[in-house]
Amino acid sequence: RPDGPILAIESSCDETACAILAPNGTVLAQRVISQDGHADFGGVVPEIAARAHLALLPNLVRATLQDANIAPATLSFIAASTGPGLIGGLIVGSGFAKGLALALGIPFVAVNHVEAHALTARLPGIVPDGAPFPYLLLLVSGGHCQCIAVEGVGHYRKLGGTIDDAAGEAFDKVAKMLGLGWPGGPELEKLAREGNPKAISLPRPLWRREGCDFSFSGLKTAISQKLAPFGKEPLPRQFAADLAASFQQAVADVVTNRIEHALDMMPEAKLLVAAGGVAANTVLRTALEKTAAQRGLRFAAPPLRLCTDNAVMVGWAALETWREAAERNLPPINDNALRP
Ligand code: KG4
Ligand code: ZN
Repeated sequence: RPDGPILAIESSCDETACAILAPNGTVLAQRVISQDGHADFGGVVPEIAARAHLALLPNLVRATLQDANIAPATLSFIAASTGPGLIGGLIVGSGFAKGLALALGIPFVAVNHVEAHALTARLPGIVPDGAPFPYLLLLVSGGHCQCIAVEGVGHYRKLGGTIDDAAGEAFDKVAKMLGLGWPGGPELEKLAREGNPKAISLPRPLWRREGCDFSFSGLKTAISQKLAPFGKEPLPRQFAADLAASFQQAVADVVTNRIEHALDMMPEAKLLVAAGGVAANTVLRTALEKTAAQRGLRFAAPPLRLCTDNAVMVGWAALETWREAAERNLPPINDNALRP
């Protein structure tokens, strides 16, 4: 184990984040800035995101160190996401982290962003027994939609993933069609509470199809067809709410169907973990919990602030990778790796 605290940076999308963790994973401080400036465009603009990371990082890192009351000289290493993600932001965040590491004469640890989501469930305090391997991870965010068999640190098997949009992207696009704000997922969930999930019939893409791939584009098309008769007229409130509720139910239905298949492909799993922004959705969470319970499995979803992009997960993944390398007597991390 490293003997001092570690500092981690996340900058792969539109969250600029910094965290400081003790060697055992205890979070000493964390800050996340969800960038504004993207809402007018209805999605994340890579150039705006990269420039915002550049502007925000120095003060964010300084403030996080102050929160933890940590002197930079006591840090053991600096970690940052190096991919996958928007390359501009990754360059800014990892360049900053490498510069700081160089100045302090300590190692830089490159972290794969998806690996960080995958290992979050093992952070102390999330699952009572610390989420032993193997477990099934459902990663559902604006950028990712995958089922991953998490077998060990560095040992991941992708069982299936989306063949078109990510789940969060579908939520955002449908919310936009309904005239809601961005990001659309939480707004759509709010509107859906006033609606009837059985009111409007929608397709269940890839329903019962072999494997655990996902597809959401057909659902989006179906929604736009239901909206077409209204042209530019304002939508009746109840119709919009029914459509939102029916869409949300369709997503929950297909995701749980896909998860059932993924669990068939991974009979050794004892735990189902959901992560990513869409895992905040109550209807989806409840459906997943039920699916797990029916099979006698436990279900865990990290708290929302750790489900969405953050630097705590980056620091934790770096600590896990570091420990794994030490146990196997391997050189810890390739400093320059842009790990895919
Ligand atoms: O993990 P995240 O913060 O960022 C990445 O994409 O990496 O996920 C953001 C996505 C957005 O598409 C947002 O609309 C969706 O998660 N989301 C939700 C909810 N909260 C966030 N989707 C459905 N229901 C929610 N309550
Ligand atoms: Zn992410």
